[in-house]
Amino acid sequence: MAAIREIPSNRFVFGCHRFGFGPPPDGGPVDVERHVVPMVRTALDLGIRSFDSAVLYRATLQLGRALESLGVDPNTIQFQTKCLRYLGLKAGGAKEHQPDALLQGIPRRYQGLTDKWDTSPEGVEQQICRERIEYGGDVLRGVALHDPPDKEKQAGLDWAADITPAIAYLKSVRETGLVQRIGLGIKEPAFVARFVAAEPGALDYAGVTFCPSILRQMMDIIRLARQHKFQVTLMGINYGQAFTLREDPATAPPFLYNYEVATEEERALMSRFYRICGSTPLLHLAAAVAGLLAVHFPDEMTQIVTSTLTPSRLVETVKLVREAQVPAPVWSELKEAGLIPREFPVN
Ligand SMILES: NC(=O)c1ccc[n+]([C@@H]2O[C@H](COP(=O)([O-])OP(=O)(O)OC[C@H]3O[C@@H](n4cnc5c(N)ncnc54)[C@H](OP(=O)(O)O)[C@@H]3O)[C@@H](O)[C@H]2O)c1
Repeated sequence: MAAIREIPSNRFVFGCHRFGFGPPPDGGPVDVERHVVPMVRTALDLGIRSFDSAVLYRATLQLGRALESLGVDPNTIQFQTKCLRYLGLKAGGAKEHQPDALLQGIPRRYQGLTDKWDTSPEGVEQQICRERIEYGGDVLRGVALHDPPDKEKQAGLDWAADITPAIAYLKSVRETGLVQRIGLGIKEPAFVARFVAAEPGALDYAGVTFCPSILRQMMDIIRLARQHKFQVTLMGINYGQAFTLREDPATAPPFLYNYEVATEEERALMSRFYRICGSTPLLHLAAAVAGLLAVHFPDEMTQIVTSTLTPSRLVETVKLVREAQVPAPVWSELKEAGLIPREFPVN
């Protein structure tokens, strides 16, 4: 593979979520020295200086400890996190919303808990204060609202009670410089336009889970970003496991599509991508699309968040985003089939 896309290292962000729940590739609980330190060292060696976490992930202390162990001043990296969604006790009829596939292999200390939301300004303050302590640096590069559309689906969302006060609080800390940017970390692309309309002047970065099958929606977000002067973060490029499959998704064992178990319809859609890609792995298509977005929309599409607990995979992903090639006939066929927008620049 020849270097075909000039993408500076500061466009890549390492996603910390596996530092909390794991599982590491060799099973068992995550060990900071054995798993996190090599991962953080590899990211830094690649020139990655930004790390993305969330209160929910319970991953930030491990990042802070790894930085300490490596003798890296936390103020020399940029740390962004997410608030609202947190791990709470499974009591009073609280329901676990994450699919079983996402919960497999999580250490014992995280079992018997469930995901909940605290949208109060006091809750947000406590959450991000703890994140700052655990990371160990002076300021937070970003704080994103974590999954408000999920709250809407699962527990209801009252905008005036759940969003506006949290944003007012975040704006006040942004003014002090303790939080530098306000963001979203979401799986529902349509929420971005809704948020921009309802909370003018709040959004600095829209983090949206990504894969090529939502490229059309992502292009809409990029246009909106240009108009409203915010930046766009790809929160992953494979939609969980969907673009890592190496067999026909129509008949593959259950896999995650946007962090939920793929439905029949989603399997069929992925199978169309798979069949058109032929000998080009889906992983390469996802990396190439992310790389092309970074190259063609450098003012808007500023971060690609990627994550693994296998250092060689991080090296591979960064290389693929810069170099993966998709043959011209495959691009044409994907466009012909309406799977990739016709206007998407593929060179
Ligand atoms: N709502 C939100 O705000 C939200 C939602 C999702 C994600 N995120 C953020 O985005 C970050 C990245 O998400 P993600 O980890 O799901 O990213 P992703 O890029 O969509 O997918 C990563 C998946 O690809 C696999 N993979 C990577 N390289 C591979 C290779 N060479 N061969 C086979 N499989 C490979 C990884 O496997 P292994 O891990 O087993 O290596 C992992 O299952 C998270 O850490 C988080 O910070 C945010």
